[in-house]
Amino acid sequence: MPTKWVSRQIFALFQPVPGLHLQRMKGPGSGSGEPVQSYDAFGRSQAGDKNMTKILAISGSLRAKSYNTALLRAAQMLAAPDTTLDIATLHGIPLYDGDVEEREGVPQIVNDLKARIRASDGLLLATPEYNNGIPGVFKNAIDWLSRPPADIPKIFANRPVAVIGASPGGFGTILAQTSWLAVLQTLGTRHWSGGRLLVSRANHVFDENGSITDETVRKQLQDFLRGYAQFIYLNPLP
Ligand code: FNR
Repeated sequence: MPTKWVSRQIFALFQPVPGLHLQRMKGPGSGSGEPVQSYDAFGRSQAGDKNMTKILAISGSLRAKSYNTALLRAAQMLAAPDTTLDIATLHGIPLYDGDVEEREGVPQIVNDLKARIRASDGLLLATPEYNNGIPGVFKNAIDWLSRPPADIPKIFANRPVAVIGASPGGFGTILAQTSWLAVLQTLGTRHWSGGRLLVSRANHVFDENGSITDETVRKQLQDFLRGYAQFIYLNPLP
């Protein structure tokens, strides 16, 4: 059993102890094995920029006043100081067409998004819910991102992924989030199921500028981000 895996599982058993610092060693194949950064008990880096946890967050809505994009903007503000949360939207991604792919390959805009995912430590999806499922715009983008299939391991395999969502309805995108599970499993991601964020009645949660006015949701979002960042630490990409 790999020592690194065992030590991470032991780490996961302990409650965070403020002030406790851990040393993360470089993994196999990465060089000398000397300590490269220290982490607090929440799995947060204690060092400089190169040690930041990088989350790429994709909003599944194109709407300027989207609650899901607003949720990600709020997440950007609430992320721990050593976590960067970069927001991507799906504007400009064409409808998937196998003929276009055969003729012209994967569009540049899709390749650019693939590169941003690859550069991240974790992928956060903010999904709206349409007709009790994943909106076509979002599924279409993921379908493009999964082309060519030979690239799937580079983009998705083992990548820590989490899903959140906001809706003016009463169930906070629960069915869309559940629908994502099959997709994420197919792509070989590591889905974080340690927390759930279902923002219902979103029209009462954000103000006109898209800022969260509901303290409970703000706290839920912060807790979610902390748990997800810890999951990323415990499940780094090989
Ligand atoms: C919706 N909406 C919606 N909401 C929900 O909770 N469950 C649902 O099944 C649906 N279905 C649905 C279908 C279609 C076609 C539309 C346009 C809308 C409402 C949806 O949650 C609302 O429009 C959100 O504001 C969409 O998310 P953004 O754009 O605010 O991020």
